[in-house]
Order: sequence, then C-alpha cells, then structure tokens
Amino acid sequence: MCGIIGYIGPKKCIDIVFDGLKKMEYRGYDSAGIAVLHEGQISISKESGKLENLRPLLEQLPSEAHIGIGHTRWATHGLPTRDNAHPHASEKLALIHNGIIENYKELKAELQKKGFHFRSETDTEVVAHLLGERIKAGDHPRDALNKVILRLEGAFSLALISDQDPHFIYLAKQGSPLVIGLGKDENFFGSDVTAFCAHTQKAVFLQDGECAALGAKSVEIWDRQGHPIQPKTTMIQWSAASADKQGYRHYMLKEIHEQSGVISKTTHAFVKDSSLDLEGLGLNSIELNKVRSIHIIACGTAYYAGMTAKYAMETTLGIPVNVELASEFRYRNPLLMGEGQTLVMAISQSGETADTLACLKHAKDKGCQIFSICNVAYSSIHRESHGSILMHAGPEIGVASTKAFTSQVLCAYLWTLGAAQKLGRLHAEDLSSILQELKSLPIYMDKALNAEEHIAELANKLYEYPNFLFVGRGPSYIIALEGALKLKEISYIHAEGYAAGELKHGPIALVDKHMPIVAIVPKDQYYDKTLSNIEEICAREGQVIAIGDEKDQHLRDLCIDIIPCPSLKTPCFQAIVSTVAVQFLAYYIAIKRGTDVDQPRNLAKSVTVE
Ligand code: AGP
Repeated sequence: MCGIIGYIGPKKCIDIVFDGLKKMEYRGYDSAGIAVLHEGQISISKESGKLENLRPLLEQLPSEAHIGIGHTRWATHGLPTRDNAHPHASEKLALIHNGIIENYKELKAELQKKGFHFRSETDTEVVAHLLGERIKAGDHPRDALNKVILRLEGAFSLALISDQDPHFIYLAKQGSPLVIGLGKDENFFGSDVTAFCAHTQKAVFLQDGECAALGAKSVEIWDRQGHPIQPKTTMIQWSAASADKQGYRHYMLKEIHEQSGVISKTTHAFVKDSSLDLEGLGLNSIELNKVRSIHIIACGTAYYAGMTAKYAMETTLGIPVNVELASEFRYRNPLLMGEGQTLVMAISQSGETADTLACLKHAKDKGCQIFSICNVAYSSIHRESHGSILMHAGPEIGVASTKAFTSQVLCAYLWTLGAAQKLGRLHAEDLSSILQELKSLPIYMDKALNAEEHIAELANKLYEYPNFLFVGRGPSYIIALEGALKLKEISYIHAEGYAAGELKHGPIALVDKHMPIVAIVPKDQYYDKTLSNIEEICAREGQVIAIGDEKDQHLRDLCIDIIPCPSLKTPCFQAIVSTVAVQFLAYYIAIKRGTDVDQPRNLAKSVTVE
C-alpha cells in the first residue's frame, strides 16, 4: 500500500512527481523519495517521515530533469528509515515498488553470496540488485526487467529508470495497481489516477503480468511472453478539483459533508423514473436464479457495510447471507458451491485490498459467481468480478472511510432491491414506498450534518476519556461497530462497539461513571429494548450519549446528551443517517487530541498487502 508515480516528457519533472506524491500520500506516508535521470546521471533524494520532509532535499536534484519516479511508503519490510525509503539504487538504475516480494529472502541470500551488499532491509532492494546484476551482465533494462520478474513471487508494481536507456521508464505490474496517464508528448504513471488526473484524463490500466515502456511520445505494453498488447484507453472522470479539500480543514471533513451529494448521485445513477436500473446495478451480469447462498467479504469499514447489507438482503431475497472478514474467509476453507450456486460479493472502496482480492480469486476458482461494489473503476477487484456496481462516491482521500461507507450501504441495498425485483420477491408498492423515502434521504443526511456544531462542542467534553463503548441494536449495532472503528483509527482512543443486548453478558462490567457510552437509538423496532439497555447502563453510572430524537424526553432524562438524528422508516436509510453522527464525533475528538486526521499513524488508505 505505497504510492508510486512517474513522469517522462518535455517539462521539468521534479514538481510534477512531488505533487503527484502529495496526491498519493494517503496510500502511505512513512517515508518518500524521488529519483531523476538527467544527462545520463541518476540522482536520488529520499527521507523518512511525511512527504514534507522530502521537500527541502529536492534542491539536491538536477532541476532540469525530465524523467522522474517517486514513491511514498507504507512500511512492510523494515522500519520507516531513510535507508529503507524508496527509490532503491543498484548498478545503473533506480527502482520503486508497491507490493510485497514473498520470496525476497532466498533471492537476497543468493545475491549476498555473489557479493552484493544491502543498505536496506527491504524486499525492493533485492529486486533492484537482481536488475542491476542483469544490466551489469549486458542486458538492456527492458530485458533485465523481463527476466527478473519471472523470479519474483508476490505482488509488485515496479518502475525503473536506467542510465542505459534515458528515453524510457520501464514498468511491471503483478497484483498491485499500476495505471498509465497519457498526455500530449508526455506520459505519467501512478498507483491510481489521482496521481496524474491534474494533467490528463486519459488512462491505461495495466493488467497483471504486463510490462510497459513509457516514453515521452510512446507507450508500449507487452505480456510475460513478450507478446505486444494494444493499450486500452479509458477516460477517467475524476478531476483534480474533486480530489482537493475545497476549503475544508481535512479531506475527512470534506468527505463527511459530501455524503448528501453522494447519496443523490447514487440515487440518480441507479434509480430512473422510479424504477431500478438493473443493468447499472450489475444484475444482468450474474445468474441470480442459480444463487443458493451469498458470502459478502470485505475488510474494516467495508466489512461493516456488508454486515449492514445482510439485514435486508437475507430476508428480502430469501437466500442465506454470510458476511465475513476477507482475511479470515479464505483460510477456513469455506463451503462454496460451484456452478454459480454461491455468489461471493466483495465490498471495497479502493478495489485493491489484497485480502479481499485474494478471496475473490479463490472463490472464482471454486466456480462461484463474483460480484463487487467498488469506488475505483478498473481496480483489480472490479476487473476480477463477473458483475459489479461502481459507487458514485468520488475520490475518498481521508484514510478513515466515510462517504464510501454510506455509499456502499446504499449500493448494497439498491442491489438487494433490484435482485428481489428480478426474483419476483418485491411488490411494486413496497418498492415505490422505499424509493419515495430514498428521494428524501439527502435531506435527512443534511439534517444529520446540521448536528456538527453540537458534536464539536460535545467532543470538547469527551476527548480526554481513554475508553469508549458504542452500542446499538439491529443495523444500529453495525453503526456502533463503525463508530468505534472511526474513533479508534483517527483519535487512537480505545473504543469497542457492542450489540446493546450483549452488554449484560459481560461488557457491562466495564461500565462506571468514567465510561462514555454512545448509544445509537433511533425510533425503530429496536427502540424500546435499546432504551432498556440504556437504563441498565445508567443504573451503573455509565455516561450515555444518545444519537436519536432530541425531543425524546425519556431519552433526555437518561442521557448526558442527545446528538440529534432524524428517524426514518427504512432501516438501511436509518443506518446511513445515524452514521454521520459517529463520523463527526470521531473527527472532532481527534481534532481535540491533535492527531493527524487524514493520515493517522500506522495506517494507509489502501491495504494492498495481506
Ligand atoms: C476504514 O476507515 C479503514 N480505513 C479501513 O478499515 C478500510 O475500510 C479497509 O481497509 C477496507 O478498504 P477497502 O474498502 O478499500 O477495501
């Protein structure tokens, strides 16, 4: 989950590469570096820590250079030190890499026996020296790359420059994302399109097993066997503006506020004249009538979106639905029925999460139907699927997922409705009533967003507590889990989400007057029981903050505060609206604690390693 970027063309490359790294920094920010090739010389500047630490070192690079590659790192092998930062150098070359080389230890031992010395602990430097060895033996960089990648096991997107060929950047893709940006007499590459969308909207998504030679005026692609491949150009929709903060203090805050608009865009994308767009929901690309079981697999927040989806999906479709963490699913040897009888649905914002992607490939090999809900077009998970929904959330830069989550929940629900319609399990009047409320959902989202100031003030009172509990019932239980994750990952406070009914089976032992408990308690079918659980908490001096109806006097008498949140009829829509409060709460507590909201410690936006 690092970010790689490069440029070749008539312009000075250093600022282009550095700005591209800034767009990629959300993928990892332990260290960063840039290598340029100018007048037959390779120069490298790199530094540990955030990208800003690299900026002063750029002066050491030849400012006239027109070929450059850059890397921002999320450490997988070795600490985030300067020596472990990319680019890594070897004989006549510089190399950057995103991914994990699983057989790097034996390759390193082989090179060490030949007398190679290593400056870093990384797997990447092993690849650099394998390439250097080939180039020193007389291979052209292109041939060296073709030979070396055959020896690598694991995932890699590689970019190398060599003074043996000053007119090209060489690329290789296997298991990690790598996309080329086609400019006018200039070309770019990046881990995803945000790296270069400020310069060009024309992209070529490399596929696994492909290599490329990127020149200023040419792009050549070939496969492992050396067969030429015709580049398939895609016009990307993401603009530089949509990836910028647009005046907000943090990407995360911007993305929380964007949710009303995302709900509107998603609705307009998949609901036409009060009927569902089954094609757009990917329902014409799978054989629903064969499906006997559904496994939803995902990680982190996307996993919670899947858990939310289960509530409607199982009962509406009458098909058993299992929701599972991708990192667990594959290794428990799950019962998967072939011939399309099992549908495996991946939910992934980035479309590159290695655990999730690996599950899809496993399920595909077992003859399952593969479906995905992703936010990145042509991402690996999107491309691996028989059918898919492309969310309309736009670039999500903040590492803590917000608008992607609510978009995933809505997309999964619309898919469920469309599937029910196809299976003849949805009455027209039921659909009409749901779509009627969907039309108002952005307005309800805006009402939930209006609680921002109230939540910011509440955060001033809560930010020093070392522990939090989040509780809810039904879909609100899942929002409790998501709220706890949000708080954990951006404020570094220990927080747990529990089913409200589960507290009395142990966790209530944690409750005393030093424990804030956030209770998600809309006026839904679970309201009375959740209220009883709140009374149990209060009886033990727990400090309850409710997310619910601010006019509810009974609730007010029990709680230290109520975060106002509208109540809706459709459980899925209620979950979406309740999410806004837990997102804001995590954000403002993190602000008070001074943590890095958009780039929290130890995390990265896209976890492309297992
Ligand atoms: C969510 O706030 C986290 N950043 C993380 O749990 C994320 O949801 C998870 O890594 C899955 O990512 P994906 O949606 O890109 O697959």
